[in-house]
Amino acid sequence: MRYSVKANSLTTLNNDCLVVAVWGKGTLSDEARDLDRGTSKAISNLIKSGDFTGKIGQTQLLHNPAGIKAKRLLLVGAGTKSKFVAANAVKFIKAAARAVCKTQAASAHFALGSIEVKDRDAYWAATQIAQACEEASYHYTTTKSSKGKALALKTVSISPFAGARRKAQSDALKTGQAIGHGLNVARELGNLPGNICTPTYLAEQAKALANRTKSVTTQILSEKQMARLGMGSLLSVAAGSAEEAKLIVMQYKGGPAKSQPYALVGKGITFDTGGISLKPGLAMDEMKFDMCGAASVFGVMNAIVEMKLPINVVAVVAAAENMPGSKATKPGDIVTSMSGKTIEILNTDAEGRLVLCDALTYVERFNPRTVIDIATLTGAAVATFGSVVSALLSNDDALAKTLLDCGQQSGDPAWQLPLWDDYQRQLNSNFADIANIGGPKGGTITAACFLSRFTEKMKWAHLDIAGSAWNQGAEKGATGRPVPLLLEYLRRQKA
Ligand code: BES
Ligand code: MN
Ligand code: ZN
Repeated sequence: MRYSVKANSLTTLNNDCLVVAVWGKGTLSDEARDLDRGTSKAISNLIKSGDFTGKIGQTQLLHNPAGIKAKRLLLVGAGTKSKFVAANAVKFIKAAARAVCKTQAASAHFALGSIEVKDRDAYWAATQIAQACEEASYHYTTTKSSKGKALALKTVSISPFAGARRKAQSDALKTGQAIGHGLNVARELGNLPGNICTPTYLAEQAKALANRTKSVTTQILSEKQMARLGMGSLLSVAAGSAEEAKLIVMQYKGGPAKSQPYALVGKGITFDTGGISLKPGLAMDEMKFDMCGAASVFGVMNAIVEMKLPINVVAVVAAAENMPGSKATKPGDIVTSMSGKTIEILNTDAEGRLVLCDALTYVERFNPRTVIDIATLTGAAVATFGSVVSALLSNDDALAKTLLDCGQQSGDPAWQLPLWDDYQRQLNSNFADIANIGGPKGGTITAACFLSRFTEKMKWAHLDIAGSAWNQGAEKGATGRPVPLLLEYLRRQKA
């Protein structure tokens, strides 16, 4: 998609689809009023009919409106003007983008220059429009024999928002586009089935990214190399699978060579059967999404390349398949992690932390400024937060605060849980340095406590995205979260 800022008169703008806002109770926005005049009251007549009220997210398409050049007029309800805050603006923009993508329009113009979001600026709005268009344009088809009609939309323009610099608005569109691309990369990887998206497949994606751009280099560690590094914990997860585990390292160099990198670590369990502690059958297919942490890391890496962020980032993906094969790890087995700590594996279904702890120890060698791991780690996070927020735990209050703010700003929120020492004793083991489960109480916290034992030397945050990474039901599919949150964080950092 191509994006631009266009200050043309709306009635003479030659475009396939003009998008305008109507406030609640049918109050026309400035642009809608302009077009209502141009179309001899097509809009106000529609509102009079009662079919369209301007309720938030409501859409109505008018074809070949007489009196103006545009082929379509898309009215989008914006709800109560005094309540037009970020959350409502996102609802509104997403509804508009989705409706545009459903049409055969090749060009669309968002005529929203007069619209003000109470708690955000015009650049935020421009970013959201581009991001929403990219998100709405994604449709999973990879493993369908019939791909359906290709998306018609090719160009998107916006009217300049009042009082905002033109160049900055077009930069904001580019940013939104990159975030959208990142989201879609993450969604596609998440949606692919476990028999295609294996650890080897993920490794190939990293190589492909490195081949596309000079700013990224990659290194793929085999099981043999991991064994040499002493990654007994990570390897214990892959032991029951015919698929070889991979430790995928991607380094993005956008800042000065010596500048300390920011580190991302993703859980990449390409399928989680639970291992010998086998999961029940119901909805087990959804455990193909157990690599969504890794997918978000790929999404972020793609986006920062596109954004040319002036910082260094190192990404480590711990990719493995958790299967109950004859060589699988058994409950009670004890393994030695790369850190030297021994782990009693009481439940082979608590495998995410087992791959992450070795990846976190490995990332120490890059001396990162901060490290954030992203993982579909616990069912307890789903029980606690549902799908609305990601769980955040951290050993650094400033980092946690920044990430919470980035989540709010990007519309991809997280909520903090306490990482208090009082929870650590639940991981005591009579036979090893630490057990891999902490019992039924506070599961999201004890999982983070486990990871905290391997991140003592770093400023570290953990995002448990078990609830936010994918949708269930009719809309089943990966969400791409928390790509927007992570990009907001990285965009704020300096080299
Ligand atoms: N991948 C799962 C967590 C999960 C479960 C995410 C359901 C989304 C939906 C993870 O590997 C797991 O199985 N965790 C166990 C840990 C337990 C054995 C301590 C869980 O949460 O049940
Ligand atoms: Mn599991
Ligand atoms: Zn898992």
